[in-house]
Amino acid sequence: MNVLVVGGAGYIGSHMVRMLVQAGHHPVILDNLCDGHRASVSGQTLHVGELADRELLDRIFKSEGIDAVMHFAAFAQVGESVIDPAKYYVNNIMATLVLLEAMRDNGVTRFVFSSTCATYGEPQTIPIKESEPQLPVNPYGFTKLVIERALEDYAAAYGFAYAALRYFNAAGASPDGDIGEDHDPETHLIPIVLQVALGQRSHVTIFGDDYETPDGTCIRDYIHVDDLARAHLTALEKLQPGSGIRLNLGTGTGYSVREVINACRNISGREIPEVMGVRREGDPPRLIADSSAAKELLGWVPKYQSVEDVVQTAWAWHCQHPRGYHDGPDVQ
Ligand code: UFG
Repeated sequence: MNVLVVGGAGYIGSHMVRMLVQAGHHPVILDNLCDGHRASVSGQTLHVGELADRELLDRIFKSEGIDAVMHFAAFAQVGESVIDPAKYYVNNIMATLVLLEAMRDNGVTRFVFSSTCATYGEPQTIPIKESEPQLPVNPYGFTKLVIERALEDYAAAYGFAYAALRYFNAAGASPDGDIGEDHDPETHLIPIVLQVALGQRSHVTIFGDDYETPDGTCIRDYIHVDDLARAHLTALEKLQPGSGIRLNLGTGTGYSVREVINACRNISGREIPEVMGVRREGDPPRLIADSSAAKELLGWVPKYQSVEDVVQTAWAWHCQHPRGYHDGPDVQ
């Protein structure tokens, strides 16, 4: 299949592009490179441009003979979405609707959508099943939920075949250390802790140890980026016209912030100073996936089950690329 991967030069998108190639598909990337890196997809077809550029989308659909679309081009920082919601409404909803319209007009109805556990808000039941009410507590989660709802309607009315995949905490890097996580600024726990291990930061600040969890720090479900990509690939192959699948993607095991820092100490063998800070606004204490539906429907079982396995791959990437993609020959 010719698969348009919007946001394909970003962190998760670039791992997806690799996997599509390995599976014999032809990825066509559209990315504005605001967060993505040209070097993460070298050798692949890359159109640099905006998701909301309808003329560009039409040109790509026609010239590349697109069969299906995967969408990774959303903004995804909870805190930023509270401070600057317009950025999230405009890109995550408005631009995505332009994409869906371009799909409709070009007769493309297969769509794999990156959704998030942030659509659940503060869940009542842990581990979280797909049947948990979706009551997002920040603009980011809400914008993702709007598109999930739009897809339900597009499936019923226009025969769209879609998968909405609700990620938990994406982490790790390709095991060969070639591609990995490089955000600017970095806000995610594992890369920040590994930057401390490399001596690029003096310490990691733990955002609160007064939560109702065994060690007082927040618990998350860290899912390897290649496991996420594999779920997309299988979902793509299972899409049925006129219907949608909505699935959680996580390991089912939660790790506290302290446990993650200790895993990074064990894997890197480096000292990692920590400082206790205050709670970060909007952080739920525990987010753990029940992914049994993905197992049943897609036969999907994460290969990376422990956070140590995930950190191992992230550490390989950080050691080989201490300055991220700016080390590579293809600097933007
Ligand atoms: N944390 C720290 N110190 C840091 C960074 C993070 O203590 O310097 C803590 C956070 O408070 C949180 C945990 O580490 O408890 C994980 O934080 P991340 O920022 O790595 O990830 P989040 O759980 O906040 O966010 C992720 C995705 C979002 C998604 C969200 C769903 O990045 O896109 O999960 O809740 F929406």
